[in-house]
This record gives sequence, C-alpha cells and structure tokens, in this order.
Amino acid sequence: MKQYQDLNTLLQQLLSQCQPLYSQGKVADYIPALAQVAPQQAAIAIATLDGNIYSAGAAEQHFSLQSISKIFGLVMAMNRLGDELWQRVNMEPSGQPFNSIVQLEWEQGIPRNPVINAGAILVADVLVSHYSASKTAFLTFLRRLIGIETIYADQQVYLSELEHGNRNAALAYLMKSFGNIEAEVPQVLEHYFHQCATAVNCQQLSRALLFLANRGVQPHSNEQICSRRDAHRVNAILSTSGMYDQSGEFAFKVGLPAKSGVGGAIVAIVPQFGVITAWSPPLNRFGNSVVAMQLISQLAEELGLSLF
Ligand code: DON
Repeated sequence: MKQYQDLNTLLQQLLSQCQPLYSQGKVADYIPALAQVAPQQAAIAIATLDGNIYSAGAAEQHFSLQSISKIFGLVMAMNRLGDELWQRVNMEPSGQPFNSIVQLEWEQGIPRNPVINAGAILVADVLVSHYSASKTAFLTFLRRLIGIETIYADQQVYLSELEHGNRNAALAYLMKSFGNIEAEVPQVLEHYFHQCATAVNCQQLSRALLFLANRGVQPHSNEQICSRRDAHRVNAILSTSGMYDQSGEFAFKVGLPAKSGVGGAIVAIVPQFGVITAWSPPLNRFGNSVVAMQLISQLAEELGLSLF
C-alpha cells in the first residue's frame, strides 16, 4: 500500500472532486423521513487499526445505518446460533434488488444471503427469538464496539419505516408461510426497522467495524467480537453481496468487502489496515450512494487497497 504523509489532505481533495456528482443521484424517498435529508452533503472517515482517525467533510454528521445495520445483526446472530444459521439463510449473491420478493418464493423462503432485506429480516427473527430485549441488545452491542454510550435509533426514521414497511412485511410473511420465521412478524419487523434507524456518523461507523479488518478482534478494547472464521465469512459475504446487484461492479472497480445503506453511507473493510466509511445521501438506481462509491473507489485506487 502507498504511504501518505497527510491522509486528511488526500481525503479533502477527493471530497472536493466528487461533489459535482451529487446531481447524479436521488435521495431515498420510499422511506419518507429519509426524503427530508439535505442531499448536498458528504463525508469520509478512515479508522485504522493503530488507533488513528482521518476524515474530511461532515464526518460528525449523523445518518441512519439502514442496511449497514445488517452487518451488526448478522454478527450477533452468528454468535448466538452458530452454524445452524446457515440452514435458514444462504450465502450466495442474489443478483436482484435488495428488497426483491420473487426469488424468495422460488427458493422456498430461504433468503439468498443475510444482507438483502429478506436475509436481514430472518436475522432479526433470530435476534428477537434469542434476546429478551433485542432492540436494546443491538444498541448495547454497537455502543460496546464504538466505545461510547450515546448511540440511539432515530425515532422519526424508525416510525417512518414502520408506517411504510409493506414490502418488508410481505417478505417477512412469505418467510413465515414457509416456516422460516419463528417469532411474530410485527415484532420481527419492529426490531429490523429499529436497527436500520440507528444513527451514527462516519467516524463512529469506521471505528465500530474495525474488528472485521482485524480477524474478529476490536483493536481498541482487544475484545474478540467474533471468531476469526466468522470475520472471514462476513467479509466474504460483503465482497459478493454487500453492494446488492452492483456487487460485481464494486469488486471489479474497488476490490474490498463493502456494504451500503439507503441512508447514503458505504463502509469498506481493508483487512489488516482499517475501515473506510463514506457518506452522501443521493443514491443511484441500485440504492448505493453515488458520491460515497466514487470516494471509496478513488481512495482505494490512490492507496492501492484492492485485495485482488
Ligand atoms: O428495509 C429497507 O428497505 C431499509 N430500511 C434498508 C434498505 C437499505 O439500506 C438498502 N441499501 N442500500
């Protein structure tokens, strides 16, 4: 990897170059609370395993995790259920949009992977069934990873998704009809929407995911968050499915495990180095942030971060 004297300056330069791309995307509006977010904002932050944080732009501005929450839910469910989880959800790329329904019926209610909506709802069912207060357990897990207590769900975003979550409800009821959801669907959806609505900033999110770049160990606390094998598995799933039906293009251009959310953030894991989070609300047709994708691709190219 190339060495940079001043990563903050490089991040600032990349951010200035990417800003003309705002107009190529559109803020998510199928969740009305997200449509209210000002589109022309961007930030990037890198947390490194040696404890440094580099950033540019609005790196302390909060946004909702949305689909990036699926990573944390998955790690919690893997820790609770072990290999049994993989009898209820697959690990193949879907090649379909993140909220697609058709494939789920063909495949008898077994989601293609845990980071499309159906898979994350399945994971939410595992959490609801294994924790007496799963929403609190999720927040506690994230607080522990970041090392601060003040992480909450954005109530407005949570209620907005609850009110407009018919498609996710359809996925959940379809899986229930195949016997692949154990708890009551409304409770599972409440957990799923609540974790999606969790608000963080770029610096916090990069820090939270460092264990995936460090074989399962959180460097600042030295705590084993998941096994080395599970850290490998999560990174594998993010590499093949984290950017949905744009995962192939992202691997082709960037070559890092990554996950996007419709809140406009994208995280990329750089094994043995650190975690990059970029955020900007306007999305492309795949539901991935236009500016965040460009920021991460340019940074990866500039620093030679690709795994391939
Ligand atoms: O369930 C949903 O549709 C949203 N809460 C999350 C979707 C999402 O973030 C997809 N990512 N690009």
